[in-house]
Amino acid sequence: MNFETDLVAHLAGSLQGHLGSAPDVAVVLGSGWAERADTLLSGVERLPLSELEHWPLPKVEGHSPELRLGTVEGRRVLLCGGRVHSYEGWEACELVRGVRSIVKWGTSKILLLNAAGSLRENRPPGSLMPFADHINLGLPNPLASDQSEDGGAHFMDVVDLYEPAWRDALLASRPDLIPGVYAGLPGPSYETPAEVFRLQQMGADAVGMSTIPEALAAKSAGACVMALSMLTNYAAGIGGSRPSHTEVLETAIKHGSAAAEVLAATIQVAPR
Ligand code: HPA
Repeated sequence: MNFETDLVAHLAGSLQGHLGSAPDVAVVLGSGWAERADTLLSGVERLPLSELEHWPLPKVEGHSPELRLGTVEGRRVLLCGGRVHSYEGWEACELVRGVRSIVKWGTSKILLLNAAGSLRENRPPGSLMPFADHINLGLPNPLASDQSEDGGAHFMDVVDLYEPAWRDALLASRPDLIPGVYAGLPGPSYETPAEVFRLQQMGADAVGMSTIPEALAAKSAGACVMALSMLTNYAAGIGGSRPSHTEVLETAIKHGSAAAEVLAATIQVAPR
């Protein structure tokens, strides 16, 4: 066993000790999703992340550092606030330690949420985008040998990384949603208009700074993965846009109730 394997196993044991048996679905909350998501759960138990030894703690406003466990229509669901980002200086294994621990605990469905910039004029701020796929343009890979749990490089097939059956079930209940491709960049500066133009040409629909490392780690650990972006702004240069963190948070709050509805629908159709 190497050090990371020990940490993940230790955290999985702590989760079991604090919260009991593993939930059916775990949701990693992104910028702005935390407040509204809370209203979905019944019978909430809270666990501050600071009580979990070696769980990396966030440094950015808009990420609430606690776990909330409750039920949504009879299913046990964990909401995970406090995502950490590569631009805060964390390594890939630290970015995904929480997700790995949750999967090790026994949760097999991982839903990743984020805020992202829209690369398409037909996806205005406030739109919600289920992931069809991603393009990784510099976010660290947790399957590299120095970042994996066991010290091996994992050559994983990532076709259908975002579970098609889960996405199709969501689209059946919410046909208004249009899946798209997420481009992940390390940030923390927003993109230049020239980068945005290239991302559009590459076929990306949204751009953000998270999610991809967690999706890779969760899939590699054997979980079924789904992700959703809230498009909080047009990416830089589109219609003269100059994105700001304030705009991202304000838009997320403004569209919070629509986002909570889509989140509830996504949880409800999670594979059994
Ligand atoms: N670019 C990158 N990340 C983001 C953006 C953006 O425009 N908006 C929210 N997260």
